[in-house]
Amino acid sequence: MEERIQKLLAEVQAFNAQTKDALEAFRLKFISRKGAVTELFEELKKVSVEEKKRLGKVLNELKQSAEAKFSSLQENIDNNTSSSSDIDLTLPPVPNKVGNLHPLTLVKNRIIEIFERLGFNVADGPEIEDDWHNFSALNFPDNHPAREMQDTFFIEKNPDLLLRTHTSNVQIRLLEKQKPPVRAIMPGRVYRNEAISARAHCFFHQVEGLYVDKNVGFADLKQTLYHFAKEMYGKDVKIRFRPSFFPFTEPSAEIDITCLICKGKGCNVCKHSGWVEIAGSGMVHPNVLKNCGIDPEEYTGFAFGMGIERVTMLKYQVNDLRLYSENDIRFLKQFQTVI
Ligand code: DAH
Repeated sequence: MEERIQKLLAEVQAFNAQTKDALEAFRLKFISRKGAVTELFEELKKVSVEEKKRLGKVLNELKQSAEAKFSSLQENIDNNTSSSSDIDLTLPPVPNKVGNLHPLTLVKNRIIEIFERLGFNVADGPEIEDDWHNFSALNFPDNHPAREMQDTFFIEKNPDLLLRTHTSNVQIRLLEKQKPPVRAIMPGRVYRNEAISARAHCFFHQVEGLYVDKNVGFADLKQTLYHFAKEMYGKDVKIRFRPSFFPFTEPSAEIDITCLICKGKGCNVCKHSGWVEIAGSGMVHPNVLKNCGIDPEEYTGFAFGMGIERVTMLKYQVNDLRLYSENDIRFLKQFQTVI
């Protein structure tokens, strides 16, 4: 019996299988329930006690080495079959096509980030608006030419329902429901009945800003927007305030920054002035505060309205407004950077 075991052991040690079939034959022959090892264990029951000890030891050796051989060969075969099939690990990876944010969204997010750090909240209001919130409460007198500053798309007349012409409507919505202090920015889409060209569009985006509290002054407005311009465009950018008129602010100012397309030298975008207007602003008119139930003797505030397309144009040196809404993938995919 010992001789047979030793022979089988030598066979097991010498065995090598490249295929699944050969390995299966090995399993059947040695380790299956009807295989040689089981058979020998049966025989072992019949031998004397001293013999059992000695033979049991060699038989166990046979069993273990057959099992070890089986599992190592099985592992080899499994590895070979998976890598020898259709997977080519030397191929370059298929590029993962991830989308990216629209440049206007990138810039809007950056604007929000800058003002949030100054303690401004983000507020939102409707795009379909009534006359009160878009005009009357903002101190636009009835039939006053100021209303024609903004060519309005009307949806219904008497009572008027319209597409908001600016984000200033959200100032009113906010002040009607929240008592000062109010410090918010309000980004959104606005609509005007204008012919589409490189410089004008029938819809575009603005960010409104509003700060109403006790003792808010023009210096606060200047410093806030000065800080914004430096954060957005870097410390070399210059900013200037020009006197202007808006019905809802007094005094009012338009805000220009250095034209970053030509670095102030003069080009088509800045009409050779070296400056580009990015926002309107001013001290909230006392009538506006009154219209929202706020006492202008107690509270003052500043407001501004900024064109997001303008800010984006200067950031990315794009000088045709139409590009932002044409959805040309060649244009859009250039703005991967998170600014
Ligand atoms: N609403 C103005 C516009 O669309 C921009 C503006 C000017 C907003 C002055 C303001 C402001 O809040 O104070 O042209």
